[in-house]
Amino acid sequence: MTASFIASKAHAADATAPGGGTVHTLIIDTDPGADDVIALLFAMASPEQLKIQALTTVAGNVPLAKTSRNARLAREWAGRPDIPVYAGAPRPLLRTPIHAADIHGSEGITGVKVHAPSQPLADGNAVDYLIRTLRAAPEKSVTLAMLGPETNLALALTQAPDITRGLRELVLMGGAHFNGGNITPTAEFNVFADPHAAEIVLKSGVPITMLPLDLTHKVLTSPERIATLRGIGNQAGRTVADILDAYVQHDMQYYGLTGGPVHDATVVAYLLQPSLFKGRKVNVEVDSREGLGFGQTVVDWYGGLKKPANVTWIAEGDAQGFFDLLTQRIARLL
Ligand code: RIB
Ligand code: CA
Repeated sequence: MTASFIASKAHAADATAPGGGTVHTLIIDTDPGADDVIALLFAMASPEQLKIQALTTVAGNVPLAKTSRNARLAREWAGRPDIPVYAGAPRPLLRTPIHAADIHGSEGITGVKVHAPSQPLADGNAVDYLIRTLRAAPEKSVTLAMLGPETNLALALTQAPDITRGLRELVLMGGAHFNGGNITPTAEFNVFADPHAAEIVLKSGVPITMLPLDLTHKVLTSPERIATLRGIGNQAGRTVADILDAYVQHDMQYYGLTGGPVHDATVVAYLLQPSLFKGRKVNVEVDSREGLGFGQTVVDWYGGLKKPANVTWIAEGDAQGFFDLLTQRIARLL
């Protein structure tokens, strides 16, 4: 059984954008993070399909104060003051907090100078925002894109299990199977940073699509692809190119690659054009036991366990198609 192309997962009730593609009522949960920032710019440049209700931030790549500032900065760079930013969980559910400043820089965004944007955070905590928004939403109407540790949603699900009613689907960057891990030999950072949260989310019963390292490590930058982004000629293109030039260095050296992944931006490309990707519905569970497998996503690719398939696991993608779409949308910004 091979991975199959993901047809557009339009639901009967879905609206279609004028230029085609499913329209998503969208919340983005994020720990910016260099690749998060690129994903956020990508998403905020795509308003026909992505009706972004809010950004919710979580501790992850860097502490919460910085991920929240960086989300506000991405909003400013995208010229989208209409989108509120809510700060969420300052630490994982149980485990000792970890960060990735060695990869994303001490301020959380490689390659560019940061400043504190004038537009403040929205009042209230992101977890409370998720609960009240999903309770008020029509059934199965909200798509939640998750780009970091899954702590906020896990807390919301624990406090208000009924919120699953308002969720259409979760589309998340996380996990690893065929590729192996990036923070340990078995675990990917977002799951490793809060495996107990990932367990709660994976058992929620909400339709889940995961874009793991198996996918993101096949959708890699190249000098030409970064040059094309810089060649757009706007500030957003220069900012994305500067971020990427610095961000990919770690993985290029660590893996001996000629380019680096833009993990979180693949989530946005999936929402905009799912036909770029191939996946398979499989059972995925998380190992949250202390030890070498801590934070590992255990993927039953061949269905041998006969357990319910709770995740569409994306394993293939059209790399050039991804960069063409990213470039086209970044070109829309200032
Ligand atoms: O493993 C990659 C993921 O961890 C990405 O979301 C990156 O931003 C970090 O959060
Ligand atoms: Ca992230």
